[in-house]
Amino acid sequence: MTTTQQTIAKGNRFVVAVDGPAGAGKGAVCRAAASQCQLAYLETGALYRALGLLTLQEGLNDPETLATQAAQMPFSYRNMGDGIFRAFLDTDDVTDALRNETVGQAASRIAAMPAVRSALLAFQRQYGAGKNLILDGRDVGTVVWPDADLKIYLTASLEERANRRLRELEIAGKNTSFSEIYDAMAERDQRDAGRADAPLKPAPDAILLDTTELTLTQSINQVVQLIKNSLKKADFECTESTHGLL
Ligand code: DC
Repeated sequence: MTTTQQTIAKGNRFVVAVDGPAGAGKGAVCRAAASQCQLAYLETGALYRALGLLTLQEGLNDPETLATQAAQMPFSYRNMGDGIFRAFLDTDDVTDALRNETVGQAASRIAAMPAVRSALLAFQRQYGAGKNLILDGRDVGTVVWPDADLKIYLTASLEERANRRLRELEIAGKNTSFSEIYDAMAERDQRDAGRADAPLKPAPDAILLDTTELTLTQSINQVVQLIKNSLKKADFECTESTHGLL
């Protein structure tokens, strides 16, 4: 550490924006990077999924009603320590319910509604205000945090992403087929990238990281290295920690 280097602290805001398609490994990579670099983490997809869950539970479809629900949604995203983050609706821990593919598809559908996006945009900016932050999603580098210090577009081939999801589901004891996952993911990719408002695409200044041939550990190491390089430019340093600090 040079004499001018300092650990990032409150008041020295540093933001990393990670975008990419479903199953690229954004969540696992960002959680690890948040812990190692002492950044707060926000998985913006969890917000869309939480609204998707409410939509399914209450049978809502109208964009204006959904936007009102989005603005009032009692959502919180909590750091439980040791790299574990949980999503809550009010006092209910909905983390596991949000992982369901039906909820993911509902999230993708409502995410195409401009009124919903603008209601959730406010939440994301408010959540991140004043924090050293890493956030992931589809539009965090293009729309939510266009002035982020570092933007990464994390991707992998559709086949590899579907395989990763299949392994995850198998480990969780869920019975599903590769083709089912592949088709659902292809549909979601198309909807997320094809919508008019804030479509999934790399920001012009994003660093592209294709993880098709990388293990999770290799992906994490590459992202942490990019963060360290970017911090160095800003004259801060990343202090390894087992806890992501909020
Ligand atoms: O990242 P994820 O798979 O949990 O996201 C679920 C859906 O939410 C995704 O298909 C599209 C939507 N989403 C979005 O439109 N913008 C974001 N920043 C994050 C997610």
